[in-house]
Amino acid sequence: MTDAIPTRRAPLRIAVLISGSGSNLQALIDRVADGFIPARIVLVISNRADAFGLERAQKAGIPTRVILHTPFPDRASFEQAMIDALLAAEVELVCLAGFMRVLTPLFIRTFAGRLLNIHPALLPAFPGLHVQQRAIDAGARFSGATVHFVTEEVDAGPIIAQAVVPILDGDDAPSLAARILKREHLIYPLAVKLYAEGRLRVAGQRVCVVDGESIDPEEYLISPAE
Ligand code: GAR
Repeated sequence: MTDAIPTRRAPLRIAVLISGSGSNLQALIDRVADGFIPARIVLVISNRADAFGLERAQKAGIPTRVILHTPFPDRASFEQAMIDALLAAEVELVCLAGFMRVLTPLFIRTFAGRLLNIHPALLPAFPGLHVQQRAIDAGARFSGATVHFVTEEVDAGPIIAQAVVPILDGDDAPSLAARILKREHLIYPLAVKLYAEGRLRVAGQRVCVVDGESIDPEEYLISPAE
């Protein structure tokens, strides 16, 4: 008789953390629903009670929690409340999707290697805030979006997927943000799919995709001037 090989419970249990509109959450919901991402979204947490993403989650039948940061005396107690909720839901992957609180090492270490973020610029250029305006002001011809593992340095973890969009004459921050967002909705589901399929290997800062189909850069990564 052979020993039972321990298998990970399938499908992967995902939580999404939001603060606002939740259009990236919607992209993940849609791509889970159509089978592209082999996973289940089991919890959505918002640190704002008025985040529209909460409605998106409820419409999809996903449990939601509002954990306001304001009543907590410090970041650690706020993060501990989120950690407790995530562990109680047996979450295996946490996706930040427009979650607008900087996380401390307490949270990041708890979910090391299991915490993804999407950022509306081509990292390592333009980490931080107001990145669309900063890319325009810098005279950049291209910007884009990045999905990366979260590490303790803000917006600096190993990069899983990026998409490039042009910055056009006459762009302002909202028009550029909208162009980038369309690509975010493609590459976040792609990155989560690759994670859920166990196809990501991290070596230092570099993420390699192993096995399965290769990624078509024309489809995902490079946007024509729309
Ligand atoms: C997205 O553009 C996301 O990349 C950005 O917030 C927006 C959320 O939109 N995230 C950050 O700037 C994180 N620093 P959504 O709520 O519609 O997904």
